[in-house]
Amino acid sequence: MRVLGIETSCDETGVAVYDSTQGLLGHALYSQVKLHAEYGGVVPELASRDHVRKLVPLIQQVLADTHSQGAIDGVAYTQGPGLIGALLVGASVGRSLAWGWNVPAVGVHHMEGHLLAPMLEANPPDFPFLALLVSGGHTQLVQVEAIGIYRLLGESIDDAAGEAFDKTAKLLGLGYPGGAALAELAKFGNPERFVFPRPMTNRPGLDFSFSGLKTFALNTWQAQGQTGDEQTKADIAYAFQVAVIDTLAIKCRRAAQQTGLKRLVIAGGVSANQHLRSELLRLAQEWGIEVFYPRLEFCTDNGAMIAYAGYLRLQQGQQEPLSFGAKPRWALMAHSSVRTNIN
Ligand code: KG4
Ligand code: ZN
Repeated sequence: MRVLGIETSCDETGVAVYDSTQGLLGHALYSQVKLHAEYGGVVPELASRDHVRKLVPLIQQVLADTHSQGAIDGVAYTQGPGLIGALLVGASVGRSLAWGWNVPAVGVHHMEGHLLAPMLEANPPDFPFLALLVSGGHTQLVQVEAIGIYRLLGESIDDAAGEAFDKTAKLLGLGYPGGAALAELAKFGNPERFVFPRPMTNRPGLDFSFSGLKTFALNTWQAQGQTGDEQTKADIAYAFQVAVIDTLAIKCRRAAQQTGLKRLVIAGGVSANQHLRSELLRLAQEWGIEVFYPRLEFCTDNGAMIAYAGYLRLQQGQQEPLSFGAKPRWALMAHSSVRTNIN
């Protein structure tokens, strides 16, 4: 089965073709980052319009590159969560193409896409596994029994990890989205200078809270008289980053102990963070746990994860009717065939 995947939930237009016997045949991504940079955040209307401009040419390109014209057996598009206008571009184009080609269409949950992205790698994890999803909109610990059988173990009660990275980066004057820029700056930070708290680690449970870290960064910055010196910025970036990573690590270990699971998937935009990747690999080895990451380009939003998740859903016989819609708010658990929150 050959599946065309379309991702348009936020500010990246992603397209890919996944083939069940040959694997990922090709993928392409157009990032709108430059378009939104001058506004300091994603402008939803501009995002939708740009998806309208870029999506069809990108599909044509990927179909041609993968010699898939006339060979697509199903179309998968991100149905939610995300920006309503942006989602509707992918959903309407995806549903229409499927109708025109007389093949099934399936709406994919964006976080399920992230969750399954490590399956595209050479050494994919076996079910069941623990998943830490760390993106711009979500921070969740999920017990994954099988495709579509998810249990939410914990999640952020306020800012997502990526959101906290972006907000802290913004206050340090690093632009938007600043997560990767903050990580770069942190490389020059003095590990001894500031110590940030590890929120919600001194009480039981697997929920997270990251909004206080951003405030802590702001207060630290102001306490230095906002001199604007680059070393202070780097030192704050380091202390912030290491606090987020430590907090995530503590909760991962707790979740592994609680569930007895020995495999940990880490996915979503923040899983592109090199310090997080190496630190969790090192710690997990100590804990006797195997860690699985997507390759860097599939940590952040992309069409490949949607094509793959869509393929698995289509294979299970799931498909959309001719009518279609988008779900800007859509809990992953509402997409699970078992709806138990063990929290
Ligand atoms: O998964 P993603 O592309 O989009 C959402 O589904 O939200 O995640 C984007 C988030 C942003 O907050 C971005 O700043 C963050 O991932 N991010 C990073 C890094 N690369 C992207 N955060 C920390 N370090 C990075 N290297
Ligand atoms: Zn995402």
